[in-house]
Amino acid sequence: MPKIAIDSVEYEVPEGRTILQVLDDLGLLGNGVEVPHYCWHPKLSVDGSCRLCQVEIEGVPKLQIACNTPVANGMKVHTKSDRVIAARRGVMELLLINHPLDCPICDQAGECKLQDHAFDWGVPAARTTEPRRPAKKAVDLGPTIVFDQERCILCRRCVRFCREIPKTGELGVVNRGDESLLELFPGSELDNPYSMNVADICPVGALTTRDFRFKIRVWFTDDVESVCNQCSRGCNILASRSNNKVYRFLPRRNDAVNDTWICDHGRMSYKKNSTGRLTAPRADGREASYTDAVKRAGELVRAALDAKGKIVGVASPFASNADLAAFRDLLAALGAGPARFSVPRGESDAILIEAEKAPNAAGCRALGMVESNEQLGRADLALVLGHTLTAEVFGDVRNIVLIDTHESALSARATVALPARTFLEKSGAFTNSRGLVQSFSAVVEPTIEAWSESDALAQIAAAAGIA
Ligand code: SF4
Ligand code: SF4
Ligand code: FES
Repeated sequence: MPKIAIDSVEYEVPEGRTILQVLDDLGLLGNGVEVPHYCWHPKLSVDGSCRLCQVEIEGVPKLQIACNTPVANGMKVHTKSDRVIAARRGVMELLLINHPLDCPICDQAGECKLQDHAFDWGVPAARTTEPRRPAKKAVDLGPTIVFDQERCILCRRCVRFCREIPKTGELGVVNRGDESLLELFPGSELDNPYSMNVADICPVGALTTRDFRFKIRVWFTDDVESVCNQCSRGCNILASRSNNKVYRFLPRRNDAVNDTWICDHGRMSYKKNSTGRLTAPRADGREASYTDAVKRAGELVRAALDAKGKIVGVASPFASNADLAAFRDLLAALGAGPARFSVPRGESDAILIEAEKAPNAAGCRALGMVESNEQLGRADLALVLGHTLTAEVFGDVRNIVLIDTHESALSARATVALPARTFLEKSGAFTNSRGLVQSFSAVVEPTIEAWSESDALAQIAAAAGIA
C-alpha cells in the first residue's frame, strides 16, 4: 500500500485511489483537511471541471486537481500552501463572475457550498463590468425540481447523476465557453424516480425541490438520523424538523445501503406522518379516553382467555423490532400461536427500490411470525399490531383490538382501536432485506395521545391481569 503525506502527516492508503478519494476514505475531508470541491462527488464519475480542489504536490511544478490525481508512493501533498490558497481565490473569483451572491433570497442559503467558500476565499468586489450571462429564472425542470439558471456553476453533478444513477440522462450542458448553460434535452423533462437527488448534490442553489423550496430557512431546522420505512431497503435518511414538525427527508450516506441517494417516493413519505392518522381511541364504536379503551381491550383479552377462546395475533412489517418482540411475548403468554403478517408488494429496480413495500418484513420473519394473506377463520379475538391485511380477512373474528397509526377499514370495524406512534414519534430499529438492523431516533413528539405499540400492549396486558 502506498504511503503518502498530506500536510506533512503520513498515511498508508489503498492503491489506485485519487487524492480526494483517499481523503474521503480516511474521513479527513472537511474534518481536518480542507480541499474544497464542487464537481467531485464520491458516488459519481470524475469531471474535473470546477478546478477548486487544486493541491500542491512536491516535485510537480503545476498545481494538480485532487479529484483526478491518483496517489503514488512517497507523494507529498500540501492543501494549504500560499499557492493553493491563491488558486482557490482565483477559482472563486471566476465562478462568481456569473453567479449572483443573492443569498438573502436564495433558498439554499445556510447549506450552500458557494456561500461557504465565498466566505472563506471570495473576493470583496467584482473586477468585471461586462453584462452577466443571460439566464432563466425559476424554471420547472419537471414535477419535482425548480431551476434557477443564473446560479448554476456548471459542475455537471446533476448531468452525471442522471446519466449514471437512474440512467435517464435528461440534463446536459449546451454551448461552449462562457456561453455554456445547463439545459434539459429538448422535449424531455426531469421526471425519474430519483429526480430529487439532484437538489441534494447541486452545490449551489440552482436546483431546489418544489416541495421544500421557500418552506423554511434551514437554520431553523435540525436534522435527526432515521431510516426510510417505505420499502425493505431501509435507506438511511435525515429528517429535518422545526417546531415539532418534519419538513423534509434527506438521504444520509451509508455505502452499504443507499450510497448517498433515496428515491422520490421515500423522500416524500414524511407527509404520511401527519395525514390520515388514527387520532382518538375508540371502544365499541364510540370515542373513548385512552384509559377506558385500554380497560375495554383488557376485558376482551381476559374474556377470551377465561372462555378458552381462540386468540390470533396479526403484526405489521411497519412495526419496530422492539414492538414486534413485545407482541411475540404477549401472544406466547396468552397461549396464542405466532402472529401473522403480510407484506405489501410492488415494483423494484436495480438501484434502491425493493419490491417489499415495508421496512421490517425481515424483523417479522426473524421473530418467527408467519407470512400469510389468508382468512383468519373463526376466532374470539384478534390482537392486531398495525396491519397490512384487508378488513375482509377478519370476517369471522368476533372482536378486534387494534393498535395502529392510521385510520383504515379495519379501524372503523375494530371493537377497540388505539392510536400508536409512527416511527418518527419513537425510537426503535428495523431489519432491512439484507438482515441489517438499523436504529432510528424519535424526530417529533406526537400531537395526539399515542403510545408505542409495546407500551400499549403492556397496558392491555396489565388491564387483562396478565403478569
Ligand atoms: S445545476 Fe447545480 S448540479 Fe447542475 S451543473 Fe449547475 S451547479 Fe452543478
Ligand atoms: S428505496 Fe425504499 S427505503 Fe430507500 S428511500 Fe425509497 S422507499 Fe425508502
Ligand atoms: S472537484 Fe476537482 S476539479 Fe472540481
